[in-house]
Amino acid sequence: MSDIPLLDVRGFGLEFRTRSGVVHALENVNLSIRKGETVGLVGESGSGKSVLSYALLGISDRAARVTGGSAVFGGLDMLKAGEGALAEIRGREISMIFQNPRTALNPIRRVGAQIEDVLARHATVRKVDRRARAIEALRQVNIPDPERRHAAYPFELSGGMCQRVVIALALACRPALLIADEPTTGLDVTTQAGIMDLIRERAAETGMATLFITHDLALAADHCDRIAVMHAGHVVEEGPTAALFAAPRHPYTAQLIRATPAAGVALDALAAIPGNLPDLRRDDLPVCRFRARCERATAACDAALPPISAGTGHNVACHHPRADADRASGAHAPMSVAAA
Ligand SMILES: Nc1ncnc2c1ncn2[C@@H]1O[C@H](COP(=O)(O)OP(=O)(O)O)[C@@H](O)[C@H]1O
Ligand code: SF4
Ligand SMILES: [Mg+2]
Repeated sequence: MSDIPLLDVRGFGLEFRTRSGVVHALENVNLSIRKGETVGLVGESGSGKSVLSYALLGISDRAARVTGGSAVFGGLDMLKAGEGALAEIRGREISMIFQNPRTALNPIRRVGAQIEDVLARHATVRKVDRRARAIEALRQVNIPDPERRHAAYPFELSGGMCQRVVIALALACRPALLIADEPTTGLDVTTQAGIMDLIRERAAETGMATLFITHDLALAADHCDRIAVMHAGHVVEEGPTAALFAAPRHPYTAQLIRATPAAGVALDALAAIPGNLPDLRRDDLPVCRFRARCERATAACDAALPPISAGTGHNVACHHPRADADRASGAHAPMSVAAA
């Protein structure tokens, strides 16, 4: 795995100007993803995961305003690139899968034709070869009888099948980076595992990097090389999956892990974290946005947060991170990680 990041996000901030005030959605976000790596971005609903992924693709809401930072992909700062350059990158070098596959597909166009459209737009595939390539793409995502399914409309397929078609669409141009935002939420556990295995297999084959966004820590534990934990628009901790579970350093990460049952168990566990996310419209947001929920808070926590470096180590943005000596009692890891 190369040490040079494929995507390097530094000091990224974004806010929304709304009628009810400014939403300070992201602040000083650092995140890096290397070629072939699967990075999980984990946090409660409303923590800013989707806002970050949309911003990276240049498809933010019109109310969004970048307040600082950079997001370099292949030498280009995507936050400063024009729409033309971003449109070139989207769908060809960076693909995205969203939560609801049905909204990602055109309901009145056959799925095979939709894949051929992507090939026509982004890949140098001759017209006569497109049908075969589309069928091959369906086969690669384990859609049975792909020749027949090529002619199916989305409504003729199950939710899991539709998500496989969306993955086929996303992977048709062999992107260097896949951003998958809650790609399996709403699917049953077996289908979830199948979809995740599929993404991982295809990533291993092509060296594709994946940013896997989820509120399900156990799922991230099973499928990611590294995990970044997001809380209220901050990345609070980031590190190799095993290290993060064995010795979480930020109190929020520790609470998330305690609230997470074994992998594969359906959970709505993040509701079990005490307290709520702060209102991101507040102008007097505390320096550490976890402060009101934190059992370790002291007066020192009102000073600027220690910056979290985006690298290969295990990093934390906290004034009182858990030290090595505290770790013996350790938070429990989901079984799949403990057994690894
Ligand atoms: N278009 C928008 N206008 C104002 N606020 C927004 C907009 N989109 C998202 N937000 C706010 O940004 C925060 C992060 O949202 P989001 O990224 O969707 O969370 P997540 O994906 O982690 O569940 C939330 O407080 C949400 O209300
Ligand atoms: S900086 Fe302070 S308040 Fe914030 S998480 Fe760390 S100990 Fe808690
Ligand atoms: Mg989201």
